[in-house]
Amino acid sequence: MELLQAIHGRRSVREFTDEPVSEAVLHELIDAAIQAPSAINQQPWCFLVVRDQALLARISDHAKAHLLRASLGAPAHPFRDILNDPQFNIFYRAPVLVVKRNSRVAGRDERSSAWRRRGRPWVSR
Ligand SMILES: Cc1cc2nc3c(=O)[nH]c(=O)nc-3n(C[C@H](O)[C@H](O)[C@H](O)COP(=O)(O)O)c2cc1C
Repeated sequence: MELLQAIHGRRSVREFTDEPVSEAVLHELIDAAIQAPSAINQQPWCFLVVRDQALLARISDHAKAHLLRASLGAPAHPFRDILNDPQFNIFYRAPVLVVKRNSRVAGRDERSSAWRRRGRPWVSR
């Protein structure tokens, strides 16, 4: 795919099928993500993969509650109605969530340094 075609063709997706995302596809996506540049090439990241729908629903509920608390006092928070909707799931019930987080200290996080040595992403679950 041409770069400009990819840029112009990208869009947000908020509806998902139940089709599971294979481990191979996840690795392909994370392999692409880790081509991003980082300061002095520290590559200070690791990835968490969450497939458990109950856990994703709990994370969604916590995030909604957090956002509502954080917006207390704001006159017209644009998301207040959807955040108060118990049916609203911030992940739109996607079959899998990939979280990128920074490793604590470059080179000292066992998981990220192991993955750097192998030159491939480390995936938790
Ligand atoms: C920093 C950032 C945060 C966003 N947060 C959300 C979000 O919480 N929920 C959501 O549905 N879309 C979110 N979006 C996606 C935007 O709503 C979306 O890019 C915009 O509506 C344009 O639609 P498109 O991505 O299909 O072109 C976010 C985008 C950015 C850049």
